Amino acid sequence: MAADSHSHVPALLETIGAEVSSHLERLLEPPSADVAPIYEAMRYSIAAGGKRFRPALVLLTARMLGADDAAAMPAACAIEMIHTYSLIHDDLPAMDNDDLRRGRPTSHKVFGEAMAILAGDALLTEAFVVLSRPNARLSADQQIRVVHELASAAGACGMASGQVADLQAERDPSCPFGVETIHRLKTGRMIEAAVTMGAVLGGAGAEDLGRLRDYGRSVGLAFQIADDILDTQATTDQMGKTAGKDAAQGKRTYVSQFGLAEAKRRAADELALALAALRPFGDRSHSLADLARFCVERRA
Ligand code: IPE
Ligand code: IPE
Ligand code: MG
Ligand code: MG
Ligand code: MG
Repeated sequence: MAADSHSHVPALLETIGAEVSSHLERLLEPPSADVAPIYEAMRYSIAAGGKRFRPALVLLTARMLGADDAAAMPAACAIEMIHTYSLIHDDLPAMDNDDLRRGRPTSHKVFGEAMAILAGDALLTEAFVVLSRPNARLSADQQIRVVHELASAAGACGMASGQVADLQAERDPSCPFGVETIHRLKTGRMIEAAVTMGAVLGGAGAEDLGRLRDYGRSVGLAFQIADDILDTQATTDQMGKTAGKDAAQGKRTYVSQFGLAEAKRRAADELALALAALRPFGDRSHSLADLARFCVERRA
């Protein structure tokens, strides 16, 4: 495989991102003037963009298994809504205290802290409205399973606890959480859920679901290791968020714990595990394989 085999991924993400963004735009039209203020804040953070990496994982996993985008689009939008909520809250002064996100001032800088908290709450909750809407293309069992995958990834045994662990490790150097645990929870579980939701939507059996879960777990950890590396290597302009913040805040990251070279090696190890998990799918899995390569070699 050529070293730049993932070079088409930015274009793929752009195409998928444009489709997802236009669906999100429609989903987030305020249904009445009374509720327009919170929708304005929700739309601000969603419209700022981002890579749409998790929706791409949902759609490409479902596509690989033969499902069409119409079946998977609500799940793709729902996970992006929860991800965006997590970013709004992550940036709050009580958490990472960031002023810049997706190239724009953070939600609390524009709308104030109370509205940022509430816009995050509303994005989280509305994601499940989107996901649970009757959908003739899916069985009730598929819909319930997709809800379960997403809720358990975002909740107390997933991202929310990862964020707790991240903050505890920052504030108390003796805190026992290892960086791998923190990363698997705060970022890995949501990325794993993007893949398993796509798998359920594509009708995967237990064995394929297990393989895809393994792929998602490894991509999820690799993605956050890459985020730690980029924080030390990329510029604020490239990332649309403030560079160098992890060291300034004393975050427990792969770079702070193991150094840059070892962090890169561990990301490469996770990439190898992700690619191995895809092997039984053969040529059908080339998009997911390229997405995994992209996630460790990306520049932003
Ligand atoms: C940022 O996620 C937060 C992490 C989990 C590392 P992304 O890097 O996917 O952010 P966007 O969606 O592209 O803005
Ligand atoms: C964020 O991790 C993870 C979640 C938002 C759940 P970071 O705090 O490293 O993300 P960035 O670097 O601010 O995007
Ligand atoms: Mg954080
Ligand atoms: Mg942060
Ligand atoms: Mg980070």
